[in-house]
Amino acid sequence: MPAAGRAQEVELIDRTALPVPARGDAKRLTQALNHLVVNAIKFTGPDGRITVESRDDGEPELTISDTRMGIAEEELPHVFDRFYRCASADVMAAQGPGLGLAIVKSIIEAHHGSIHLTSAPGVGTTVRLTLPAR
Ligand SMILES: Nc1ncnc2c1ncn2[C@@H]1O[C@H](COP(=O)(O)OP(=O)(O)OP(=O)(O)O)[C@@H](O)[C@H]1O
Ligand SMILES: [Mg+2]
Repeated sequence: MPAAGRAQEVELIDRTALPVPARGDAKRLTQALNHLVVNAIKFTGPDGRITVESRDDGEPELTISDTRMGIAEEELPHVFDRFYRCASADVMAAQGPGLGLAIVKSIIEAHHGSIHLTSAPGVGTTVRLTLPAR
């Protein structure tokens, strides 16, 4: 995917072998998942690695993890705010108004699911979603 005017190699690891049927609007949930993968691609940078993992221990769960950039601890409380962009977004020359995570959170909460983001600068970010079982 082009970023900062040049191509970058990003590895995508798919660990979603098991189907995890969840209750909800397929179009909206696809929009949310797509956005999280786009964020991972945008913010992992060259030679980054993205892992998408599904689990179902009674509750459908999906995690999207990336490597490298991460988010500073003091910025974590703000990432789901509308229009919030971390300082690192500019460093990465990543475009976007800062609305994506706010929209994803609204979609997941409208489905009575949960969303949590954990991150460490220079290590990476993980977003964990749960949804009601179908
Ligand atoms: N996977 C990630 N790794 C590092 N930083 C992230 C990641 N996802 C989000 N962020 C940080 O959180 C900010 C908010 O994310 P959000 O998706 O809401 O906005 P955006 O991607 O900048 O713009 P938009 O999604 O509206 O196109 C981002 O600008 C970025 O700084
Ligand atoms: Mg985004």
